[in-house]
Amino acid sequence: MRGLLLLCLFGTVLGNYSWNGPGQEAPTKPTSDNVCLTDTASCGCCLMQKQMHRMEGYFNMSLDELQRKVNRAQAALNNVRSSRSAFSVALTDTRRCVGPNRAGSPIVYEYVFLNLGDNYNRVDGVFTAPRAGVYSLALTVYSDSGAPGSLLMACANLRVNGADVAKLNDANDEDQEDSATAVLALQLAAGDRVSVYLPVGCSLCDNASHYNTFSGFLLYATD
Ligand SMILES: *[C@@H]1O[C@H](CO)[C@@H](O)[C@H](O)[C@H]1NC(C)=O
Repeated sequence: MRGLLLLCLFGTVLGNYSWNGPGQEAPTKPTSDNVCLTDTASCGCCLMQKQMHRMEGYFNMSLDELQRKVNRAQAALNNVRSSRSAFSVALTDTRRCVGPNRAGSPIVYEYVFLNLGDNYNRVDGVFTAPRAGVYSLALTVYSDSGAPGSLLMACANLRVNGADVAKLNDANDEDQEDSATAVLALQLAAGDRVSVYLPVGCSLCDNASHYNTFSGFLLYATD
């Protein structure tokens, strides 16, 4: 490009001045019009040069614009990646019953299927929302009371920040197995704590069949 430009300028200078030796007519002052008249080759070269500059500018601009768009898409993708959050846990993987107790207590689900983002705490059983968004939450309770007519109830409450959002209860005395499920989509703020609470008198039993599960995931972020 630069070589062509120099050649082009040189050509223009030669075309206008170099043939005017002593005693010859003074050169006419070159303007863009008469340059084209007196030296069409040089003029064509310059026009081409101009056109190439314009094209170069245009492509550079388009490239910059594309790069900006790629950067924006990349940032959005990274944002989605970094906010991935999903968990799914079960009461146990062996054999375990919780309750009935004289006082309500939180349930800590021991068996972890998935804890993407590490937002479910295995020690206290609490899922902490990593960021504001709409979350899907699901809870299934199950108990095998051992015999029809037993007073045991399969029940538990889904809680957000200690407040009940769904109470599950199956105390149908006519069969031996009791079960209930709730699935909710909830708007949560960053740091909201989702947990399961076992009220007085409720009991859940499970084994490796995973009848008691607690799951949630970020459907989409809203911040
Ligand atoms: C879990 O217990 C049920 C009875 O409540 C039984 O039918 C089932 O086979 C058990 N599952 C496993 C994996 O032991």
